[in-house]
Amino acid sequence: MDLSPGEAERDLVRMLRDLARNAAQTLGNLVDAVSRGREPEGLLGDIKALFSEGGTLRGPADLRQAVRVLLVKPGVQALLLYRLYRWLHVRGLRLLPEILARLNYFLTGAEIDPGAEIGPGCRIWHTAGVTIGRGGKIGRDVWIRHNVTLGGRGASPFDPGEEGYPRVGDGAILYTGVTVLGNVEIGPGAVIGAHSLVLDDVPAGSLAYGVPAKVVKRPGRH
Ligand SMILES: CC(C)(COP(=O)(O)OP(=O)(O)OC[C@H]1O[C@@H](n2cnc3c(N)ncnc32)[C@H](O)[C@@H]1OP(=O)(O)O)[C@@H](O)C(=O)NCCC(=O)NCCS
Repeated sequence: MDLSPGEAERDLVRMLRDLARNAAQTLGNLVDAVSRGREPEGLLGDIKALFSEGGTLRGPADLRQAVRVLLVKPGVQALLLYRLYRWLHVRGLRLLPEILARLNYFLTGAEIDPGAEIGPGCRIWHTAGVTIGRGGKIGRDVWIRHNVTLGGRGASPFDPGEEGYPRVGDGAILYTGVTVLGNVEIGPGAVIGAHSLVLDDVPAGSLAYGVPAKVVKRPGRH
C-alpha cells in the first residue's frame, strides 16, 4: 500500500483511536463483570462512579480521558491510593499502609487514615486539608470538598472527652471546610454547608450549616 505522509499519519491516528476505544470498552466490560461478583473494598464502585452521569468522566468510556483523570485529578488519586492501603490494612499489615497514607498526604494533601472506612463511589474535590480519622465511617456515593475533617472530639483539661467517630450516610454532601467531630451521625442524603462545625446528628435528607451546625431545612419542608 502506497501512502502519502499525511495519509499515513491519519491512518496511524485512526488505528490508535480504535485501539484506545477497544481498550476502554474491554475495561468497562471487565468492571461490569467483576462488579457482579464481590466488590473489592469500593474500588470498582469508584471507577463506576467516575464514568456515571455526573461523574468526573462524562459520556462513554474513553481511555484517554481516564488516563488524564488518573494523572491530574487529586481526588481520584487520593481515593485509589487509599483503596490500596486500606486493602493492606484490612489484611493485617500496619506499617506499610501508614507509609502509603503518608505518601497520599504528600501527593494530594489528603490525610486519610488506613482505619477509616469509605464506601464506593466517593468523590473528593480539591483534596487539600481533607482529614479523615481512624474511626470515621463514610457510606456510598458521598461527596467531600477540601478541608473537610472527620475526627474524634478529643479531650480538654475540663472534660476527658467522649469516645467515637463520625458516621456519614450514603449520598451525603460535605461542603468545603466542614468539621464533624465525635460520635455523630450525618444521615443519608444530608447536606452540610461550607465551614460548618457538626457536633450533633443531622437527619437524613436535611440541610444543616453554621457553627455549631443547625438543621435549617428538612426533607419536604422548605
Ligand atoms: C449550604 C448551601 C448549599 C446552602 O445553599 P442554599 O440552600 O441555596 O442557601 P442560600 O444560598 O439560599 O442561603 C440561605 C441562607 O443561608 C445562609 N447560608 C448559606 N450557606 C451558609 C453556610 N455555609 N454557613 C452559614 N450560613 C449559610 C445564607 O447567608 C442565607 O442567609 P439569609 O437567609 O439570612 O440571607 C451553600 O450555601 C453552601 O454552603 N455551599 C458550599 C459550596 C462549596 O463548598 N463550594 C466550594 C466549591 S470549591
